[in-house]
Amino acid sequence: MDRELKYRRLDQASPEELSSLRKKVRLSEWRQKFHVQPVMGLMNDPNGFSYYNGEYHLFYQWFPLGTFHGLKYWYHTSSKDLVFWQNQGIAIEPGHPHDAYGAYSGSGIVKDGKLCLMYTGNARDEEWNRQSYQCMAVMDRDGSITKLDKPLIDHVPDGYTEHFRDPKVWQDKDKYRFVIGAQRVDQTGAAVVYESSDLLVWEFKGEIQTRLQHFGYMWECPDYFELEGQGVLLFSPQGLLPVDDHFRNIYQSGYISGKPLNRDTLEFDHGPFCELDRGFDFYAPQTMLDEKDRRIMVGWMGLPDIGYPTDSHGWAHCLTLPRMLTFREGRLIQQPVPELRALRDHAAEAADTLHSEVKSYEGVQGTAFEMICEFQAIEADVVGIEFRAGEGERTVLRYESGQRKVTLDRSSSGAAIVSDYGAERSCMLPTERNSIKFHLFVDISSVELFINDGEEVFTSRIFPKWNSRNIRFFVQNGSAGLKVEKWDLTEAVKDKEGAE
Ligand code: FRU
Repeated sequence: MDRELKYRRLDQASPEELSSLRKKVRLSEWRQKFHVQPVMGLMNDPNGFSYYNGEYHLFYQWFPLGTFHGLKYWYHTSSKDLVFWQNQGIAIEPGHPHDAYGAYSGSGIVKDGKLCLMYTGNARDEEWNRQSYQCMAVMDRDGSITKLDKPLIDHVPDGYTEHFRDPKVWQDKDKYRFVIGAQRVDQTGAAVVYESSDLLVWEFKGEIQTRLQHFGYMWECPDYFELEGQGVLLFSPQGLLPVDDHFRNIYQSGYISGKPLNRDTLEFDHGPFCELDRGFDFYAPQTMLDEKDRRIMVGWMGLPDIGYPTDSHGWAHCLTLPRMLTFREGRLIQQPVPELRALRDHAAEAADTLHSEVKSYEGVQGTAFEMICEFQAIEADVVGIEFRAGEGERTVLRYESGQRKVTLDRSSSGAAIVSDYGAERSCMLPTERNSIKFHLFVDISSVELFINDGEEVFTSRIFPKWNSRNIRFFVQNGSAGLKVEKWDLTEAVKDKEGAE
C-alpha cells in the first residue's frame, strides 16, 4: 500500500472525509452493543490496562483513517466498573522522530500519583528500515497526557532484530521490570527483561530462559505476572504451525506457567505452552492487577493480516470482555468478571429433557445476550446449540460426548471471514463428566464462550444478519437434561461525540 496513505495523520483528513467515515460506521449493521470498539478506523491490541485515580483505564492501538494497519495512535477509554466504558479520545499521538511511524503497544504503571504509560516508538530510517524505541508518556489525575521528549531506550541490544516491542511493566518491591517481545537475529522469538529503580533509567537484563528456544519467529505482547504463587508468561508467538486442534489461527496467543521467574538468572521453570483461546479471533491479550487484587485480562478480538467484513464499513475489530484469571488444576481459567451482570436486562429461562430432537423456547432468542446453558445427565452422542439463527444462517456449538470434543462452527454464521484458516474450531475437554456448561456472551457481531466455568474459552467474530435471532437446542441419538438462563444485554459503551 501507498506509504503516504498508510501513514496519514488524523489531522491530515478533511472534515468531509471524517464525516463520510463516521457515516459509514453509523450505517454498519455490525456495531457492537457492549464491547469496546473504535469510533472509526481499525483497533488492535489493548494497551496500558490499569487502575488509576479511582477508575479502570484501557487504551488500545488505533488507526483512525482506514481499516488497515496504518499509523498507530493510542486511544483511551475508562470505566468505573469494567462494564460501562466512556470513550476519552486520543491518548498518545505519534509524531516525535522516535515514534513517527506509530506509537506501538505497551503498558501502564502508577508511580508518584501519575499513570506512566510505556510504549514502543516505531520509526524508520532513510532506507525505510524499522527502528524500535522504548518510550514513555505520563497521565495526570486530570487525564492530560504528556509524552517524554526522549525515548527511555534508544537501541535494540545485540543479538536481536528491530522487531523489539510491547513493554509490559510491573513492580517488584524496590525495582521496576518490564518484559518485551523480541526476535533474535536467527529469526526466533524470545521475551527479554529490563530493570529500573525509577522507571526512567533502564538496564538490559537478558532473556527469560524458557524451554521454548525455537518457538516461532517473533513473540509479540509478552506479559509476566504471578498468580496464586505461580509465575505466568503470556505471549503471542508468530510462526507456529498447526498441530491437530491447536494453532489453527494465523497467529496464536498463550501462556507458560511454573515456578516464579528467578529475577537474577531469569530462569523460568515452566510447563507446556497452552493456548488461551480456542476460537478464531483472539490475540495480544494484556492483564492488570486491579484494586480488588484480581488478575484481569482483555484481548483483541481480531488478528493481524486478515480481512474482516466490517472493513468496508469504516471500522474494524473490538476488544474482548474483561476476564478474571485463576488457576484450576495447573491450568489458567478465564471467567467473565461478575460486574458484567450489571448489563443484564430482560430475563428468560427454560428447563426440559430432550430426546433426539431440536427445540426452541419462548423468550429465548436475541442478538445481544448472555446465556448460561447446562446439558445434564447426557446420554446422547451429541448435544448443542444453534444461535444467531435465521434464514440460511446459524452459528453452531456442538459437544460430542464420547470424544469430549467441543466444536464451534461458523461456516453458516453470516458474511464470510477469510476461509484460509477453516470455519470450525474444536478442543477436547480435560475432564470426563456427563454434563457440560456453556456460558455465552453474544453481541451483534461476536461470541465469547466459556465452557465449564472457564476451563476452555472460544472467542470469535461472527457477522450474521440483524434479524438472525433464533436459538435452538439439540440432542442427537439419545437424551439429555437442559437448563437455560438467558438475559438480553444493554448498551455499554458511549461513543462520546467527537471523541476522536
Ligand atoms: C500486535 C502488534 C504489536 C505491535 C502492535 C502495532 O498485534 O503487532 O506487536 O506493537 O501490534 O499495532
